[in-house]
Amino acid sequence: MTQKRTSAGILGTGWCIPEKTVTNSDLEKMVDTSDAWIVERTGIRERHVAAEGQPVSDLAERAARMALEDAGVAAEDLDLIIVATLTSDRIIPSTACILQDRLGAKKAAAFDLSAACSGFAYGAAVASQFIAGGVYRHVLVIGAETLSKVVDWTDRNTCILFGDGAGAAVFGPVEDGYGLLGFDLGSDGSGGDVLDIPASGSLHPVTKEALEAHQQYIHMDGKAVFRFAVKIMGHTVEEALKKSNHTKEELDWLVPHQANIRIIDSAAKRLELPMEKVIINIEKYGNMSAASIPVALAEAAHAHRFKKGDLIALAGFGAGLTWASCIVKWAKED
Ligand code: ACO
Repeated sequence: MTQKRTSAGILGTGWCIPEKTVTNSDLEKMVDTSDAWIVERTGIRERHVAAEGQPVSDLAERAARMALEDAGVAAEDLDLIIVATLTSDRIIPSTACILQDRLGAKKAAAFDLSAACSGFAYGAAVASQFIAGGVYRHVLVIGAETLSKVVDWTDRNTCILFGDGAGAAVFGPVEDGYGLLGFDLGSDGSGGDVLDIPASGSLHPVTKEALEAHQQYIHMDGKAVFRFAVKIMGHTVEEALKKSNHTKEELDWLVPHQANIRIIDSAAKRLELPMEKVIINIEKYGNMSAASIPVALAEAAHAHRFKKGDLIALAGFGAGLTWASCIVKWAKED
């Protein structure tokens, strides 16, 4: 006899955005660009950046505390903390371990997850499997970034796109038939070079020469990433829907990675979803990588946009290359 699996869903959400903003007109003073170009080509009007000396763990902790409170779960009851980030405080220790200590999550295992902008959706899938299998009961998943610290503020191809922030969700057992119904995770490492930070690890350690060549910053072939994203976003949601035994006609909401309004638009068209059913915050935050999806999710949840039973697709793509989507039947009473 097969053992019955627990339904795993989102019990609470939280987010944190640093105070300082960088508007498009601020950028006009830093690089050869214009507000009109940025808005037309990306949909971004401003982004927030962490204060000097403010690490990603600080944003992540604030988002986590809000999510725990919203979920009514004590930190001591967490079994696992997953932090999806490409801007951890340090390579070691993991940011998840820093949070385990700060939150007082005494019995929690903790690790960071590296899947760039797909990281939160990857983390949600991992969390759901631990809960569904009965191994863990409460898993905190955080997507947090301080991209402002790895962006070359003299490169107009990249600096206009990114921002800082953190979003968090507490996963736990929910009513049967609700929660995370299915997911699609994917990777294509052959595309690794189109989006990378060249001097950041064992291949090219951060040397004086690397710093002089700005190799410690994000390098990106924007057009290649754009083509990949347009192809993969709708496709991954369709795959996750199939695995959940649902169809795109049944979708109530899309919570996409916020990289470019034109990419979001093309995914919505493929899924035949009107833009009112797509959660969009790119205008005020830009691309916050792993934090984009959980911040959009948390803001929408706290604005009471979801009702119990709504079918929600989370969908991301990013460096790796990676992609991920999750189909969630919203389990929380408003
Ligand atoms: N301001 C003004 N002009 C600019 C700027 C700028 N900030 N940046 C580029 N241009 C110029 C280019 O030099 C080019 O000029 P040229 O025609 O004289 O050569 C022209 O504008 C057009 O440039 P394109 O690169 O063709 O512009 P495109 O429409 O492709 O938009 C963009 C560029 C916004 C980067 C787009 O390609 C994109 O969004 N790509 C996806 C990026 C993305 O999603 N990255 C994140 C992945 S997630 C992660 O894992 C971190």
